[in-house]
Amino acid sequence: MRVGGDVRVPGDKSITHRALLFSALARGTSRIQGALTSLDARSTARVLRRLGAEVSPLRDGVSVKAKGRGRLRAPDTVLDCGNSGTTARLLLGLLAGHRLSATLTGDSSLRRRPMRRVTTPLSRMGARFQENAGDGLPLTIRGGALVPLRYEMPVSSAQIKSAILLAGLAGDVEVDVREPHGRSRDHTERMLRAFGYRVTEDDGWVGFRPGGKITPFELDVPGDPSSAAFLAGAAILAEEGELRIVHIGVNPTRIGFLTVLRRMGADVSTEATTEHFGEPVADLVVRPAVLRGTEVAAGEIPGLIDEIPLLAVLASRAAGTTIFRGVGELRVKESDRLSLIAENLRAVGGRADIRDDDLLIDGEAAPPAGLVRSMGDHRMAMAFAVLGTVDGARVRVDDMACAAVSFPHFTETLRGLRRRGPR
Ligand code: S3P
Repeated sequence: MRVGGDVRVPGDKSITHRALLFSALARGTSRIQGALTSLDARSTARVLRRLGAEVSPLRDGVSVKAKGRGRLRAPDTVLDCGNSGTTARLLLGLLAGHRLSATLTGDSSLRRRPMRRVTTPLSRMGARFQENAGDGLPLTIRGGALVPLRYEMPVSSAQIKSAILLAGLAGDVEVDVREPHGRSRDHTERMLRAFGYRVTEDDGWVGFRPGGKITPFELDVPGDPSSAAFLAGAAILAEEGELRIVHIGVNPTRIGFLTVLRRMGADVSTEATTEHFGEPVADLVVRPAVLRGTEVAAGEIPGLIDEIPLLAVLASRAAGTTIFRGVGELRVKESDRLSLIAENLRAVGGRADIRDDDLLIDGEAAPPAGLVRSMGDHRMAMAFAVLGTVDGARVRVDDMACAAVSFPHFTETLRGLRRRGPR
């Protein structure tokens, strides 16, 4: 395959969720341009409507009219968070500081995912929870007046960190949180700072101090680096050409995959960097390359957690062995990604092993062929679709529809890269 030209990807999922949640705390109308319109973003918009925010139909440009901090209303139905862990966990943080009761649920994948990782710290702040299904959804929260929290998180996770920060914001109390290793994405911290809140960082501790104010805002969401990663992967596996993925968020806590790709021998660079709302934005330029295996340390994982399925398929095309250290968190993503990556790589003729929490992948020169099971996991489906672009590959993914969770029109976009002829 030859790649060429410029391509855009949909808006950043993490920033879209946060922009919607913050806009629900502003008194007045906020406008979000370039918002992600995928199923996950729809889940956040849907639950916020149930809580009284007037969210326009999700299009590229979205407007949200709300009443201000602490003014969400009790929902009259269960809040369905769909497939979206970010919606459920961040919303729990937001609701912890509201005097109301709400029940959250989700699809069968989300209902299996752990929630005590957020309900435990939020309980310490004063929120009350009623579990209906052990450590998962459905779950009922009763929020109210909160007390400050100083908390060492058991796992590095932006969702846990953000839930606690949002509880601090909604409840107007100080919070300090610390991640065990590595730094997860810091979009919430950057957004809080943009509204005048003091957010400190010291020796791994992130501190939130009340004192700012969420006022109506206009925000332009950059392209999602996690979505761009799939197209970058296809360009790396291509035979010739150059692909420019324009207007991508390049927040350092999100682009750990670029560091790993460069270590593997990939030719990836960022150009034309600008900044908006405290977030750096750039074009990503990618050329085909011959890859070699690498070792990814546990401390690097939070900065590339969503890119592991893609990095794993690229590792299966690299010379030698690639080791991902300490990737146990993959077991509680949209699927058990750790097992499923290994299973699917073997299904297409690759070699992959799991040793405790480490994932080991051997490179393979023969074209991949076989049937891949996505188990409804968007990133699994997209990663193996990228592997299917290798010359001579015969990879079939059982269900590509789930890509719509984060990347509407993914299949067409990927196919579009293939069609590009010589410039
Ligand atoms: C996200 C955080 C990550 C990531 C998810 C989005 C966020 O989850 O996997 O896709 O927007 O905060 P964890 O923080 O649980 O690792």
